[in-house]
Amino acid sequence: MTTARGAGCGKVILLGEHSVVHGRPALAAGLSRGATAEVSASTDGLTRARFVFDTAEVDVLASQDADHSLGRALAALLATYTEPPPMQLTVRLELPAGAGLGASAAMGVAVSAALDQHLGVTRTPEERATQTLAWERVFHGNPSGVDNTMAAVGGVAFFTRGQPLEPVRVRRPLVLVIGHSGEASETKLMVGLVAQQLEREPKRIGELFDAIAALVRNGRLAVEAGDLRALGQLMDMNHGLLSALMLSTPRLEDLCHAAREAGALGAKVTGAGGGGCMFALAADTSAAHTILAALQSLGAESFITEVGA
Ligand code: MEV
Repeated sequence: MTTARGAGCGKVILLGEHSVVHGRPALAAGLSRGATAEVSASTDGLTRARFVFDTAEVDVLASQDADHSLGRALAALLATYTEPPPMQLTVRLELPAGAGLGASAAMGVAVSAALDQHLGVTRTPEERATQTLAWERVFHGNPSGVDNTMAAVGGVAFFTRGQPLEPVRVRRPLVLVIGHSGEASETKLMVGLVAQQLEREPKRIGELFDAIAALVRNGRLAVEAGDLRALGQLMDMNHGLLSALMLSTPRLEDLCHAAREAGALGAKVTGAGGGGCMFALAADTSAAHTILAALQSLGAESFITEVGA
């Protein structure tokens, strides 16, 4: 029996989460780790999948009425194919789930790539980004599309909802230290909380989103110019505005503070916030190890990654 394989990468939002849901731009980067998927023909006439996480395994049947959101997401993705045959899938996640690193999007893209190979479908990364929005909607309700786009395309990019992705040329690779608060967070919930704030105070929150958009545009220039110090300052400012939106937690504040004290050029929440991960920008690999040690001394699961190399 032949096995088709696919992969999708995780992502880190350098600047612009949440405001990106409401039409402002974001600057994001694909991570080297993400998810992989394998697909083969089903032996029992049903499409089923096993999702392998670091601490658990989940078996689901693909169905719009499945109890588990993974079963519903798989059904939503399969609905984009014409009469797909029954299949057996195994999906492995290399990232923490619910941590703001785009785990669900990485799995969706990995599954799409493996299904395409199994079914002989050819698709560009940009087309895959569009296709996997159906998968993301099951988890996030109103996704901007930044996670699945970065999972499919990778690299560093300037993303605006509904517009073609603009790849960004990185003058100096970005050495990032990612730290997990250990607090679970649900993107759908956090996106809903920000939407409520916007509804209650459209002028104030709209202006705050515009301020974040200005940081994103300047961040793009900083990345293109290799000005890491400027990028770090923009990250700190973005973190302050995310805190104003009540997306930080005492634990995330502690981790960002510790990273800055350890020499980070900037540190911020990444992704939905309310828990999940923060990341810090390091001047170089040696500085990154000092920041990593500071985060680990606070008990945060952390790793170093380089983007734009
Ligand atoms: C989640 O990784 C990023 C958010 O901006 C949601 C989205 O863009 O869909 C919080």
